Amino acid sequence: MIEVKGVSKSFGSNQVLKDISFDVKEGEVVVLVGPSGSGKSTLLRCINFLEEFQAGEILVDGAAVGYSGGTSGPSRRRQSEADVANLRTKAGMVFQNYNLFPHKTAIENVMMGPVLVNKDSKADARAHGLELLAKVGLKDRADHFPSQLSGGQQQRVAIARALAMRPKVMLFDEVTSALDPELVDEVLKTLRDLSNEGMTMIIVTHEMQFARDVADRLLFFYQGVIIEDGPPAEVFANPKTERFQTFVKRFQANSHRG
Ligand SMILES: Nc1ncnc2c1ncn2[C@@H]1O[C@H](COP(=O)(O)OP(=O)(O)OP(=O)(O)O)[C@@H](O)[C@H]1O
Ligand SMILES: [Mg+2]
Repeated sequence: MIEVKGVSKSFGSNQVLKDISFDVKEGEVVVLVGPSGSGKSTLLRCINFLEEFQAGEILVDGAAVGYSGGTSGPSRRRQSEADVANLRTKAGMVFQNYNLFPHKTAIENVMMGPVLVNKDSKADARAHGLELLAKVGLKDRADHFPSQLSGGQQQRVAIARALAMRPKVMLFDEVTSALDPELVDEVLKTLRDLSNEGMTMIIVTHEMQFARDVADRLLFFYQGVIIEDGPPAEVFANPKTERFQTFVKRFQANSHRG
């Protein structure tokens, strides 16, 4: 469902992604962990073509992301805005800061994309939006404004808003890290539910217990390279690298969640 092949990305002279390759099968949940600055967000942003990348190829559901004409060289060209916009409807992305429109209610936030981008009728978009709000446990909050919702509720509205575009894959970038600890679990539950329904997902998180429970595969990023890749139970039991052991130890020492 997602194929990342030899992707490299630099900001100026700072190479942030170094020849990254991995794939995500349909229904698979891949959790990305790694130290700050290792390139996790940049990778997710490349998959949704919010960032350009200099080499390599990314395919989402078989369609090339961002470029046509090969993985490098003179025939490589940026796709048209229309192709990029079309591509973005395949991958729903949710960020740490949910960025709901403050003057729109929960349901209006969820309906916007389908109405404006997909040209769905308001009635259809509303019906689907209400289903999605029910799915994330917010059926009775549809007419609330963001300021009337907790951080965890706003984040679940943001997830419903991404799902409203009927994406093939969902990309989550530290969606719980701005939340008060007591609100984290309700958002993680939503991610678990999505996983149980078979959604293909890449999740960047610092919630190690969640990663162990939910991930089919854990990737550990270090300085723009994937240095661990496997089922979480295996990676935690037999890490190949010192780096991962150090990361996990430091993490356990700092974690309020144990
Ligand atoms: N727009 C940008 N311009 C220049 N450098 C950038 C830009 N965005 C990210 N970087 C750099 O790319 C590197 C990777 O950043 P990225 O945000 O992908 O890390 P991350 O793994 O998501 O970290 P964190 O855990 O802190 O979110 C960092 O060195 C960062 O400073
Ligand atoms: Mg990040």
